[in-house]
Amino acid sequence: MSMESHSIKSFHGKFYLCCTQLLLCLLLALTCKFVSGDPTTGDGVIVTQADYQALRAIKRELIDLRGVLRSWNDSGLGACSGGWAGIKCVKGQVIAIQLPWKGLRGRVSEKIGQLQALRKISLHDNLLVGPVPWSLGFLPNLRGVYLFNNRLSGSIPPSIGNCPVLQTLDLSNNALTGKIPPSLANSTRFFRLNLSYNSLSGSIPVSLTRSPSLTFLALQHNNLSGSIPDTWGVPSRNNSSYQLQFLALDNNLFSGSIPVSLSKLVLLQEISLSNNKIVGTIPDDLGKLSKLQKLDLSNNAINGSLPVSFTNLTSLVSVSLVNNRLGSQIPEGLQNLHNLTLLDLKNNQFIGQIPESISNISGLTQLDLSENNFTGEIPASLASLSNLTSFNVSYNNLSGSVPSLLSKKFNSSSFVGNIQLCGFSISTACQSPPPLNLPPPPMEAPKRHHHRRRLSTKDIILIAVGALLAVLLIVCCILLCCLMRKRAALKEKNGKSTTSKAIERAVPKAGTEVESGGEMGGKLVHFDGPFLFTADDLLCATAEIMGKSTYGTAYKATLEDGSQVAVKRLREKTTKGQREFEAEAAALGKIRHPNLLALRAYYLGPKGEKLLVFDYMSNGSLASFLHARGPETVIDWPTRMNVAIGVSRGLNYLHTQENMIHGNLTSSNILLDEQTSPHISDFGLSRLMTAAANTNVIATAGTLGYRAPELSKLKNANTKTDVYSLGVIILELLTGKSPGEPTNGMDLPQWVASIVKEEWTNEVFDLELMRDTPTIGDELLNTLKLALHCVDPSPAARPEVVQVLQQLEEIRPELAAAAASGDDGAKEAAQHTSE
Ligand SMILES: *[C@@H]1O[C@H](CO)[C@@H](O)[C@H](O)[C@H]1NC(C)=O
Ligand SMILES: *[C@@H]1O[C@H](CO)[C@@H](O)[C@H](O)[C@H]1NC(C)=O
Ligand SMILES: *[C@@H]1O[C@H](CO)[C@@H](O)[C@H](O)[C@H]1NC(C)=O
Ligand SMILES: *[C@@H]1O[C@H](CO)[C@@H](O)[C@H](O)[C@H]1NC(C)=O
Ligand SMILES: *[C@@H]1O[C@H](CO)[C@@H](O)[C@H](O)[C@H]1NC(C)=O
Ligand SMILES: *[C@@H]1O[C@H](CO)[C@@H](O)[C@H](O)[C@H]1NC(C)=O
Ligand SMILES: *[C@@H]1O[C@H](CO)[C@@H](O)[C@H](O)[C@H]1NC(C)=O
Ligand SMILES: *[C@@H]1O[C@H](CO)[C@@H](O)[C@H](O)[C@H]1NC(C)=O
Ligand SMILES: *[C@@H]1O[C@H](CO)[C@@H](O)[C@H](O)[C@H]1NC(C)=O
Ligand SMILES: *[C@@H]1O[C@H](CO)[C@@H](O)[C@H](O)[C@H]1NC(C)=O
Ligand SMILES: *[C@@H]1O[C@H](CO)[C@@H](O)[C@H](O)[C@H]1NC(C)=O
Ligand SMILES: *[C@@H]1O[C@H](CO)[C@@H](O)[C@H](O)[C@H]1NC(C)=O
Repeated sequence: MSMESHSIKSFHGKFYLCCTQLLLCLLLALTCKFVSGDPTTGDGVIVTQADYQALRAIKRELIDLRGVLRSWNDSGLGACSGGWAGIKCVKGQVIAIQLPWKGLRGRVSEKIGQLQALRKISLHDNLLVGPVPWSLGFLPNLRGVYLFNNRLSGSIPPSIGNCPVLQTLDLSNNALTGKIPPSLANSTRFFRLNLSYNSLSGSIPVSLTRSPSLTFLALQHNNLSGSIPDTWGVPSRNNSSYQLQFLALDNNLFSGSIPVSLSKLVLLQEISLSNNKIVGTIPDDLGKLSKLQKLDLSNNAINGSLPVSFTNLTSLVSVSLVNNRLGSQIPEGLQNLHNLTLLDLKNNQFIGQIPESISNISGLTQLDLSENNFTGEIPASLASLSNLTSFNVSYNNLSGSVPSLLSKKFNSSSFVGNIQLCGFSISTACQSPPPLNLPPPPMEAPKRHHHRRRLSTKDIILIAVGALLAVLLIVCCILLCCLMRKRAALKEKNGKSTTSKAIERAVPKAGTEVESGGEMGGKLVHFDGPFLFTADDLLCATAEIMGKSTYGTAYKATLEDGSQVAVKRLREKTTKGQREFEAEAAALGKIRHPNLLALRAYYLGPKGEKLLVFDYMSNGSLASFLHARGPETVIDWPTRMNVAIGVSRGLNYLHTQENMIHGNLTSSNILLDEQTSPHISDFGLSRLMTAAANTNVIATAGTLGYRAPELSKLKNANTKTDVYSLGVIILELLTGKSPGEPTNGMDLPQWVASIVKEEWTNEVFDLELMRDTPTIGDELLNTLKLALHCVDPSPAARPEVVQVLQQLEEIRPELAAAAASGDDGAKEAAQHTSE
């Protein structure tokens, strides 16, 4: 090996070591979502005596049937060097204990209070018993306590209020009793409190209602009682900004009325007060909660009316007021609630008519108005709610006939219990309108007749105008085609083929599988796929340029039947000769994978023009999806991860099943379909090209910032250069930055590495991803680590794509499962954090 390669290797070694260390430490920093002036790294340092003793004591009180803690065996040497399962340290001090889902029994030792640097304790989903240690209150750096899904009992130690920077306390689904200590709200960073599914009693401490930082408050399924305090959002620390977005108090014993002060929490998105003993009316001020999406007040004893301000809640998606005593009429203006999908008013005392305005909530899927005192007819316009899948107006005082579309769609149980209502079943057929006792057709007859009569006046004129237009259009089309042919002929004469608009050159005649285009001798070859078009269809399709790449120009073409295809017109003189070309194209046409853009057909023109026909991807390229969007368009993390996993799958298939190197993987040739699933394009195209053309492609790829450094010498792409490009794309997804534009003179991998080195890892990520850090922080960091591994300067150190895929699937297993089972529910990946 030469000197040069040696130095690259040692550089890589240092670089990598440094990265892993930094990441390990920053990983924690990010999980806990804060800024801290804490020291840097400390791996490899021997654990302090105090921490060692504490860990030993902790192990002693745990019952470890699966032997998870077997590695906690030596005299402490391994504790902080990664040897002890679930332990992370900084400078010989334990900063995290993470042992979820380990089948651990026994108790959490009070000795945990000795771990002075502890920031995070995560022992959720075990079988732990005994109390929550009060000594947690001794830990000045504690940020996150995750002990949910255990069997802990006793009461919540008030001492936890002494942890000044506590952010998350999740003790849900245990057997805790006693009251909620008011001191919990002491931390100025308090972000999420989840005490749901316990047996806590007493009332909600006022201090919690005044915490300016609390964002999630989940106290459902307890034995809490008393009135809900009316002190929400009342300033306690000279701070009038309140963060609460999620409030779940359902399934308790709360009494009293809905506090008016809730209306001060302007960021609230969800309120659930169901299954309590709440009385009184819905405060008018609730109409101020413009971000409210979900309101569940079901199973209480709320009376009065639905306030008019309710129609100002334009973000509402779901409303349930089931089983209350709400009376009076539904306010007008429901059409404002254009995002509403569920409206459930079952078993109240609503009166008056069913408002027509419900018909204007076009996305409504569930409407239940049963067991009220509604009168009058069912508005016929309700039938226009095409997405309605569940509809119930039973047990009211409705009258008249059920609109026929509704009675066809929903069975009689949706309508029963309305004595004066008819036409929803055979036994309730309406008496007056149908003159004869014939089934449906006569009922429709009068309408149709009416319709025909109108047709004879206005509509005939319309039809005539339409026909005229159609004729004109056809004439225009013919003229255009002729013009184009002439132009093409002219251009051929001039020896140039720079066409700007369509894939011109009409070739008449068509066949089926392999077709020869008559006079001009073109040839269209189809591979399997949904498209049935002829050479004519293709060549006369309306086409618009989508972009130019190294291989040629891409068009979006709309075929006769309205279907769309992507057509790539290859640069002439850069492709192989016809026979070789056809052999290679036939091989490419057989490659089918959900993440590889399918080649559906090719066309060879008489003058050597070559067109490739692919599936059309409506969401364009990943490059434009990421970099050319409006400021309001947010691309969330599951979507990005879905792209990363899909691209890895496609590339893995290429490498392992097709034995093919991509050689030019960039975000511009990753295309996204309607579900934003990625499809790699441009693979194998190099096989259609001459050797000279391919050299150019590699040179161009380099300028785009996706080219592995060794390609400057090698000139030959291989699996490791592809993995490098994949790494750059993952960095692009994480940072939102385009690798095409250098930052401070560095390319994207160098820039990311430099930021990570300076411990500003959080600065690397796309700002919009940072909004969800408490739930996805670990995923971001693990993905970043993996991407940096892929862009390692040394090819040998890079993983194979199959390993990249495995690791991505481990980082986000829900997505992996969803994608593998073929459904596109990927975005509904579980919200509940694992830590
Ligand atoms: C401690 O446990 C680790 C992992 O289980 C094992 O590799 C090591 O040999 C053990 N050391 C001792 C001293 O038992
Ligand atoms: C609270 O905990 C319950 C039970 O573990 C869980 O279902 C819920 O999603 C959690 N809510 C929040 C806001 O953390
Ligand atoms: C925490 O809150 C309690 C009661 O709200 C108060 O008495 C105590 O002084 C507070 N502790 C700290 C450290 O702020
Ligand atoms: C709630 O409290 C009542 C008495 O007030 C008691 O009967 C009931 O068992 C308690 N429920 C739970 C889940 O602790
Ligand atoms: C008020 O509290 C919020 C949330 O804790 C914080 O972001 C904001 O800076 C505080 N404002 C003031 C003026 O202290
Ligand atoms: C609240 O803060 C403002 C400045 O942010 C200050 O003028 C005011 O006096 C403070 N009020 C109290 C009660 O501390
Ligand atoms: C609602 O019920 C309460 C008793 O729970 C009663 O005092 C009040 O008058 C009722 N309000 C209305 C509008 O019916
Ligand atoms: C609804 O909101 C508008 C604008 O914010 C306000 O002017 C109006 O008074 C509100 N209507 C009700 C009934 O609260
Ligand atoms: C309705 O939903 C859409 C998409 O979910 C969202 O963009 C829009 O902001 C919502 N409208 C309101 C008024 O909240
Ligand atoms: C509701 O929809 C009907 C048509 O279904 C339309 O004529 C009417 O103007 C709409 N009303 C409002 C307030 O949008
Ligand atoms: C009806 O449902 C379909 C499929 O869920 C959805 O795409 C469409 O937007 C919905 N229509 C309306 C008017 O919300
Ligand atoms: C609802 O209608 C029933 C039957 O007509 C009547 O007895 C009852 O008083 C009505 N209730 C209200 C609140 O109007």
